Amino acid sequence: MRQLLPRDLVVDDLPALLGDDDRPAPPGRPWVLANMVASVDGAFAVDGRSGGLGGAPDRQMFTAVRSLPDVILVGAGTARTERYRRPAPGPAADLRTGRGQAAAPRLAVVSNSGHVPADQPFLTGDGPDPLVFHPATADLTDLPHGVEPVQTGTDEVDLVQVLGLLADAGARTVLCEGGPTLLGQLHAADLVDEYFVTLAPNMVGGEQVGFLGGTPAQVRDLRMHRLLVADDVLMGTWRRDR
Ligand SMILES: NC(=O)c1ccc[n+]([C@@H]2O[C@H](COP(=O)([O-])OP(=O)(O)OC[C@H]3O[C@@H](n4cnc5c(N)ncnc54)[C@H](OP(=O)(O)O)[C@@H]3O)[C@@H](O)[C@H]2O)c1
Repeated sequence: MRQLLPRDLVVDDLPALLGDDDRPAPPGRPWVLANMVASVDGAFAVDGRSGGLGGAPDRQMFTAVRSLPDVILVGAGTARTERYRRPAPGPAADLRTGRGQAAAPRLAVVSNSGHVPADQPFLTGDGPDPLVFHPATADLTDLPHGVEPVQTGTDEVDLVQVLGLLADAGARTVLCEGGPTLLGQLHAADLVDEYFVTLAPNMVGGEQVGFLGGTPAQVRDLRMHRLLVADDVLMGTWRRDR
């Protein structure tokens, strides 16, 4: 992998490169980063899954970005379709521990319905049970064991409150891994500080295009922070220009 901007260099240790950046928590909430992959025409999934986009460089970036946060926030739709697991401590765990963070980030699922099928891989595994943020109106009758429900909001999950609660619990950095519905709402509320976007060398078409989920257009200016390339896959990071 090669970094093109801000200066040309061969990247030997991607987690270390990304981990050296400052991510100051804004008042009352953690620093929020998002990581998404898209085709050149902006498709975020092929046949309902994103895994086919971006190949090995995207997987390398996905793993490296996961070494940064204290919590991984994901929409229930993505957790269900992508068969999410609890994040495991990986090779980057030493780096994380060295920076005083937990050995593995905690998973937090956002759901208005409270619908968590009993066959979800994230219900079992090492580490603390994933959090499920839900509003008061969610039906939790069938909520399986293996998650910790947290109520925020009345009819809809209150994302500002979610981030405030995570900050109160000690999280300094939160990574949103999508999907588009959740990320679009974080964008609408101007709660994203840094975007990692992988551009896969494909044209896809279809209807799953635009990873802010069809939320009404709201322009947020960004600053390019890094640009990397590997095997025709372009990986950029942009930060909110506040
Ligand atoms: N290209 C990429 O990097 C990438 C990343 C992630 C996902 N994807 C793809 O995106 C597709 C799924 O898209 P999606 O928009 O349906 O994903 P999503 O945002 O993960 O799922 C939508 C569901 O998540 C819950 N949710 C999302 N935002 C919420 C909020 N603010 N408050 C309360 N609940 C919220 C709701 O769950 P309930 O129904 O339980 O209320 C909602 O129905 C999949 O095909 C997946 O493969 C692509």
